[in-house]
Amino acid sequence: MHAAYITARGLAETIRFGELPAPGCGPGEVLVRVEAVSVNHVDTFVRSGAYPTRLPFPFVIGRDVVGVIVAVGSGVTAFARGDRVWSNSLGHDGRQGPSADFAVVPADRAYPLPEGVAAATAVAIVHPAATAYLALHAHGGIRGGETVHIGGGAGQVGSALVTLAAESGARVICSASAADRAYCRSMGADDVLDYRADDLAGRLRAIAPGGIDLAIDTSAREDVASLLDLLAPRGRVVVLAGMTTRVTLTLGELYTHDRSIRGFAISNATVAELTAAAGTINRLLARGALTPRRIETLPMSHARRAHARLEDGDVRGTRIVLVPDEAMPPP
Ligand SMILES: NC(=O)c1ccc[n+]([C@@H]2O[C@H](COP(=O)([O-])OP(=O)(O)OC[C@H]3O[C@@H](n4cnc5c(N)ncnc54)[C@H](OP(=O)(O)O)[C@@H]3O)[C@@H](O)[C@H]2O)c1
Repeated sequence: MHAAYITARGLAETIRFGELPAPGCGPGEVLVRVEAVSVNHVDTFVRSGAYPTRLPFPFVIGRDVVGVIVAVGSGVTAFARGDRVWSNSLGHDGRQGPSADFAVVPADRAYPLPEGVAAATAVAIVHPAATAYLALHAHGGIRGGETVHIGGGAGQVGSALVTLAAESGARVICSASAADRAYCRSMGADDVLDYRADDLAGRLRAIAPGGIDLAIDTSAREDVASLLDLLAPRGRVVVLAGMTTRVTLTLGELYTHDRSIRGFAISNATVAELTAAAGTINRLLARGALTPRRIETLPMSHARRAHARLEDGDVRGTRIVLVPDEAMPPP
């Protein structure tokens, strides 16, 4: 089969596109014919080694997939051949990625694709949306009526956070570029603050005088110490980005108000947590309430270029989706 793969961790240039033996599926697994895969920041971290995880070599890159089941391993009762499914936890912790004609998916990491949802739409959203679900629910403990601040509300994860937080009945404040104000409002933000204007902390305090219950900055550019200061009693900061950011905190600001700061990575999520996220994602996908902003579809043979462009910051507001080369429409 055709596959985009690496034989060792390294730069985007190490990605090859060529023939690898097609995998077979074992007990508890399904084999899918791949329709679409997405390109995430984390795919570049896995490829480069910035995010260390067990990889079988040659390693097929990628994490999220939508495909049609073509074979079902023993013991799998939830799915049958012909079912369309998605997964967002391949390509790490010893599992092969899906950037190939066929991919093996453990059945407990496969979720049915809701009727009528395009493969590209689903695959583009499942990673940021599951991240948002975990940040808000598994780690942030969001409750209806709370005030939530999202840093970088127009980004892939940020816009999913805005959508899911609004869906939970929270008041949603986000920071974004002034040009993205209307987009963030359309996703469900109540207030949008221009991140380039001065004194974000002062403006946040002015519109949330009772304090912020949950703050999540996807840009890793906001000042975590200021966010902690802005929290209501028992408020939480959830950290999901800023791999090399160092901060200085005043612990008294934290413990004297029962505030907390907590980090997480979706790669550590349990199967049960991912399944809970998938339930919410499928409910929202089915009613068109979760949509990627822009999708650029490229043939899988362009995987190397896709990684390089993501690393160069050349895909603002756009999600790259790779499809098998023969599925590309003629130019
Ligand atoms: N922990 C996890 O499990 C997990 C999972 C998924 C992703 N992540 C991480 O989450 C981060 C965001 O990913 P993404 O795909 O959402 O990226 P993205 O689409 O590039 O979004 C980042 C957003 O931040 C905005 N921004 C830039 N500077 C800002 C500032 N000073 N203040 C506020 N916002 C600012 C950007 O706006 P402009 O476009 O105007 O620059 C953009 O909208 C990445 O670091 C990724 O690795 C972590």
